[in-house]
Order: sequence, then C-alpha cells, then structure tokens
Amino acid sequence: MVQLIYLSTFIFSFLTLSSADDAAVMAKLLASFSTAPSGWSNSTDYCNWTNVVCDRGRVTEIELIAQSLSGTLPSDLGTLTRLEILSLQENSFSGPMPSFANHTSLRYLYLDNNNFSSIPSGFFQGLTNLQVLYLSENHNIAPWTIPTELTQATSLLRFYASDTNIFGSLPDFFGSFPNLTDLGLAYNNLSGTLPQSFGGSRIRKLRLERQKNGLSGTIDVLSSMTQLSQVWLFENEFIGPIPDLSNCTSLFDLQLSDNQFTGLIPDSLMSIATLRNVSLDNNERIGKL
Ligand SMILES: *[C@@H]1O[C@H](CO)[C@@H](O)[C@H](O)[C@H]1NC(C)=O
Ligand SMILES: *[C@@H]1O[C@H](CO)[C@@H](O)[C@H](O)[C@H]1NC(C)=O
Ligand SMILES: *[C@@H]1O[C@H](CO)[C@@H](O)[C@H](O)[C@H]1NC(C)=O
Ligand SMILES: *[C@@H]1O[C@H](CO)[C@@H](O)[C@H](O)[C@H]1NC(C)=O
Ligand SMILES: *[C@@H]1O[C@H](CO)[C@@H](O)[C@H](O)[C@H]1NC(C)=O
Ligand SMILES: *[C@@H]1O[C@H](CO)[C@@H](O)[C@H](O)[C@H]1NC(C)=O
Ligand SMILES: *[C@@H]1O[C@H](CO)[C@@H](O)[C@H](O)[C@H]1NC(C)=O
Ligand SMILES: *[C@@H]1O[C@H](CO)[C@@H](O)[C@H](O)[C@H]1NC(C)=O
Repeated sequence: MVQLIYLSTFIFSFLTLSSADDAAVMAKLLASFSTAPSGWSNSTDYCNWTNVVCDRGRVTEIELIAQSLSGTLPSDLGTLTRLEILSLQENSFSGPMPSFANHTSLRYLYLDNNNFSSIPSGFFQGLTNLQVLYLSENHNIAPWTIPTELTQATSLLRFYASDTNIFGSLPDFFGSFPNLTDLGLAYNNLSGTLPQSFGGSRIRKLRLERQKNGLSGTIDVLSSMTQLSQVWLFENEFIGPIPDLSNCTSLFDLQLSDNQFTGLIPDSLMSIATLRNVSLDNNERIGKL
C-alpha cells in the first residue's frame, strides 16, 4: 500500500512537471508575438486559449492561421512533446523555424507562407510520425539542400517546400516513403535530373516547375510512376522525347511547357482517358499529330 501511494505520487508529480513545462513554453510563445492572437492572454490557462487543444494539461494542437502574427518563435517550442498539430501558416513569422527534431507525436506541421530566415540543423531528424509538412513560400530563407535525415519521416504523405531557396539535386530516396502522394518543390534552385527512385514511389502530385537554372535530363522515369495525376514540370531544361505514359492511368494534368523536349507527341498520351489538361508550348521541336 505504501508502495502504491508512493508510485501514484510519483506519477502525479511527473504529470504536473510536464504540464508546468508546457505552461512555461506557452507563456514564452505568447510573449514572442508582437501582438497577442485573439483569445490568448497570460491571465487565463493556456489550455483555454482559442484554438489550443490540450489533453490532461499537455498541448496537443495549436492553430494560428492567417492572423497577421509576427515575431520570432521560441527555440524550445519543441519541448511541447505531446504536440501533434501545429498550424502557423499565412502569418509573418521571422527568425529560424522552430525545430521538432526527434518528436514522435508530431503529425502535421504547417509553417508555410511566412518569412522565416532559416531551417535549424537537425530539423528533419527523427520525425517518424510526421504525415504533412508544409514549408512553402518562405522567400527569405537561407539557401538549403534536402537532407538525408528526411528519410526518417517514413510516415510522410505530403511534403511541400516551394519557393524556399532549395538548391542542389533532388535526392534519390523518394521511393522509400511508402505513403508519399504529394511532392511540391517548385520555384527553387534545384538542378540535375529526376531521380530513378521516383519510379518506385506512389507520388500522385509532382510539382517541380520553375527552377532557377532548371532541372535537366529526360523525364523517362515518369512512365513508371503509375499513380501520377498531376505533373507540373514547366520552365526547366528537360530534354528528349515525351515518354510513353500509358501506365499512368490516373493522369489528368500534364504541364511540360518551356523545356527542351523534342520529337512527336506520342499516341499513347491520347489514350489516357483521364487526361484533361496538357501543355507542351515552347519546346524545341514537338511535332503535332
Ligand atoms: C501579461 O501581459 C501583459 C500585457 O498583455 C504584460 O504587460 C505582462 O507583463 C504580462 N505578464 C507576464 C507575467 O508575462
Ligand atoms: C477554462 O474554461 C472552462 C470553461 O469555460 C472553465 O470552467 C475553467 O475554469 C477554465 N480554466 C481555467 C484554468 O481558466
Ligand atoms: C522578411 O524578413 C526580412 C529579413 O530577413 C525583412 O527584411 C523583410 O522586411 C521581412 N518581410 C516581411 C514581409 O515581413
Ligand atoms: C535526435 O536523436 C538522434 C538519435 O538519438 C541524435 O543523434 C540526434 O542528435 C537528435 N537530434 C536532435 C536535433 O536532437
Ligand atoms: C502507410 O499507410 C498505410 C495505410 O494507411 C498504413 O497502414 C501504414 O502504417 C503507413 N505506413 C507508414 C510507414 O506510415
Ligand atoms: C543555384 O544553386 C547553385 C548551386 O547549385 C549556385 O551556384 C547558384 O548561385 C544558385 N543560383 C541562385 C540564383 O540562387
Ligand atoms: C506498363 O506496364 C506493363 C505491365 O507492368 C509493362 O509490361 C509495360 O512495359 C509498361 N509500359 C510502359 C510504357 O512502361
Ligand atoms: C489547365 O492548365 C492551365 C495552365 O496551367 C490552368 O490555368 C488551368 O486552370 C488548368 N485547368 C484545369 C481544369 O486544371
């Protein structure tokens, strides 16, 4: 009995300690905003703030979408270890992105359409349950390359980082995400070719248009990306013929304009029943049928 009381006291103080940590970080978060979001105040409990969800005193969800917020977020936001959903998109946050490295609770992270200055090192480590990652439209971010640590995010469904100053090549590991359906890396400075591992991927939406110097090589790998529905590759330096895409039976939107493609429009393209929207303007020598 004594042992039981001791044990429950221990568990109780452990829970209290963790909630106290969340309270301190939430107070810091509130203080970091240049103006407080509506429904947030240091005179009420953080679990009662508008669009904050808690589970037994621990923060699981924070949603502050398009609220004209600015400021630099506290670097220890990642100590909210029970956080599952963080939606901070469409504000004007600056400074480094908050890091949630090795967070196994985080499932949805929206930091897009802000003014972050950098991605901290280790940012992509150990995000094993992350399903949705939106970083797009942070124009002033320090140039970065896609790190190998991203492969640890094995649960990824959608990854968007368009217009975020990415340079270097597309890594050859996108076939290793069993459930990745959306990859959006448009308006960056990616160079090199489409990786072979795209062939084994389940990607449906592929957005790689408008790279500064242009992606190059052929797009032959698309013919084995059978789940594709939308492919935007315009304004790059791709070459070669349009491949046989007849196994891409869900394809409806294919945008290939402003590249260096040559040859004839293959008959097989016309046989894709789902295809609705095709653009091939401004290529080298695409013969009309
Ligand atoms: C609470 O917020 C007010 C302004 O909203 C501020 O003046 C005060 O310093 C804050 N208190 C703490 C403890 O942060
Ligand atoms: C949070 O809000 C609920 C319902 O409005 C209220 O009963 C409770 O006392 C509040 N808790 C705190 C700590 O402010
Ligand atoms: C974005 O941040 C840069 C500094 O990195 C600053 O010069 C610029 O004014 C900011 N833009 C907006 C829209 O907040
Ligand atoms: C994440 O965990 C790994 C393995 O334990 C460790 O090596 C790494 O430093 C951690 N990353 C961060 C940013 O804490
Ligand atoms: C992929 O999705 C399936 C079906 O939703 C799910 O059972 C599986 O756990 C997911 N795999 C990973 C690595 O998240
Ligand atoms: C694009 O990236 C290359 C390195 O791959 C770099 O040399 C070049 O300066 C970058 N261009 C722009 C416009 O950022
Ligand atoms: C389409 O798939 C079939 C069956 O897997 C395969 O034999 C054929 O070569 C594929 N066609 C193309 C153009 O990749
Ligand atoms: C087709 O593509 C054009 C050019 O990208 C776009 O403006 C239009 O909305 C697309 N239509 C459909 C039905 O997706």
